[in-house]
Amino acid sequence: MQYRLATSVAAALGALLLGACSSNPEATSTTNNAAVPDYWPSIQSPIARSDEVEKKVSEMLATMTVKQKVAQIVQPEIRDVTVEDMREYGFGSYLNGGGSFPNNNKHATPDEWIALAEAMYQASIDDSLDGSTIPTMWGTDAVHGHNNVIGATLFPHNIGLGAMRDPSLIEKIATATAKEVRATGIDWIFAPTVAAARDDRWGRTYESYSEDPEVVGAYARAIVTGLQGDISDGNIDDQHVVSTVKHFVGDGGTEHGDDQGNNIADEETLFRIHAQGYVEGLGAGSQSVMASFNSWHGEKLHGNKYLLTDVLKDKMGFDGFVVGDWNGHGQIEGCTNDNCPQALLAGLDVYMAPTPTWKPLFHNLVAQVESGEIPMSRLDDAVRRVLRVKVRVGLFDLPSPANRSLSGDKSIIGHPEHRAIAREAVRKSLVMLKNNDHLLPLEPNSKVLVAGDGAHNIGKQSGGWTITWQGTGNENSDFPGASSIYQGIRQAVSAAGGSAVLSVDGSYDEKPDVAIVVFGENPYAEGNGDIANVEYQRGEKSDLALLKKLKADGIPVVGVFITGRPLWVNPEINAT
Ligand code: BGC
Ligand code: BGC
Repeated sequence: MQYRLATSVAAALGALLLGACSSNPEATSTTNNAAVPDYWPSIQSPIARSDEVEKKVSEMLATMTVKQKVAQIVQPEIRDVTVEDMREYGFGSYLNGGGSFPNNNKHATPDEWIALAEAMYQASIDDSLDGSTIPTMWGTDAVHGHNNVIGATLFPHNIGLGAMRDPSLIEKIATATAKEVRATGIDWIFAPTVAAARDDRWGRTYESYSEDPEVVGAYARAIVTGLQGDISDGNIDDQHVVSTVKHFVGDGGTEHGDDQGNNIADEETLFRIHAQGYVEGLGAGSQSVMASFNSWHGEKLHGNKYLLTDVLKDKMGFDGFVVGDWNGHGQIEGCTNDNCPQALLAGLDVYMAPTPTWKPLFHNLVAQVESGEIPMSRLDDAVRRVLRVKVRVGLFDLPSPANRSLSGDKSIIGHPEHRAIAREAVRKSLVMLKNNDHLLPLEPNSKVLVAGDGAHNIGKQSGGWTITWQGTGNENSDFPGASSIYQGIRQAVSAAGGSAVLSVDGSYDEKPDVAIVVFGENPYAEGNGDIANVEYQRGEKSDLALLKKLKADGIPVVGVFITGRPLWVNPEINAT
């Protein structure tokens, strides 16, 4: 019998069956970093500092008002900011959160995504109200493909990719993702997550490539390279996007696996286990880093000057910008979402400020700079970092989002070549746990009963961060171009002269040769995914009952387990 640990995937699943059958001085702060231990390396980014770029940025900075500067470091979210706000304030960037779409329409077309990007861009360069012509930049969570966009290619979540042990395929996935993101007019993504998940009770375990820092490091390098392309000439071209290594640092090592919890590792362990994705991702030239919600020894990272400034910027030499996480600044002691000079002072460069609180936050920051509470030098450094990245990604030279090279090309979204890469990743990420009596490979011309609530449920195959934030509330029809596991099996079996019958509850009229039971975790994301222990279906065991029933009927049973993390499934394994 065979038992497998599959990760969440929504690529066409014919492949799954095949797999199953065969199986500068201005830029640095004045902090003295002498106290930073030597194991934190000084990193050479492939994008070398350029005098020309620094001069251009200095010239811009010299003409900017405090309000214009603060606008560069406040990032509102599309549900709570309008194009007219953009015209009035000229934000340096904006985002769409998980499950947030143009016009609040889940079914927004690529044209609608581009239209919003275009409108925001035009408003940002319109100087009639704010006096600024600096182009804005849109950031999105393309964490397993361009996952907020209907019809985009979805790739396995990171934990599955980690199981492949194939950094070169990771680079291809990143290259394809960058293109699909560009096709919607977006230039920046909040990925990769380079957490080393050390406690599987954490609901973001599936966003981590591995608990092994070496795997995380190798993948971070490959994915950043694929997302940003060849940057040795100092530029990210218009086929690629700005990447973000996140969440700095220690998110995968909180006590009890609590999301946004406290990491109590000693500093060398923090470096050795949790920082390797930054060593490699920054070594590959990632232009942004996202600060983490977690604390280190009780202090929230968003307010940790030692780690953000002394370690990351001064010692490691990171010269891109640090973006905050979803009102993460508001969690610093003494801060609220709308008032937090502490974060900027600690080294955060861009406040992720979803919710209407962006407005008081903006005005408070302006007042704090004007009063001297925030030194102008710190604001200038933050803005310099943002502008430097904008120059490097060509924002001052590229045409507007609707007119960029990939923008009009709808064939890029869900392109067959990208889906082929996704299928390869699906095949390679499957983990076989058991194959008693060599049940696998199955005879393809068998009579197959396909059972379990994961059999014909693409949303369940795909996990969190899939169209919606938690990955819930989606229908199979929300995934044009994708196949459910049942559909993939049916296709392959019918082609060989066999038959596949879908029966979620495992009932049948005609006894099958074999049953494939697809079951596992339902989608979840941040927070909701945290669990108290790793026993699967604790106290419920309905999937176990289904496996046992089929087995008791004398039917050989193949279990396909969809999960975002290793779980205790001994009873289910023993029942196949
Ligand atoms: C998550 C980040 C994500 C951000 C924007 C946060 O809650 O922690 O990973 O990039 O939201 O959606
Ligand atoms: C957003 C997510 C975000 C989360 C944080 C959601 O509403 O869509 O992107 O990470 O809120 O709480």
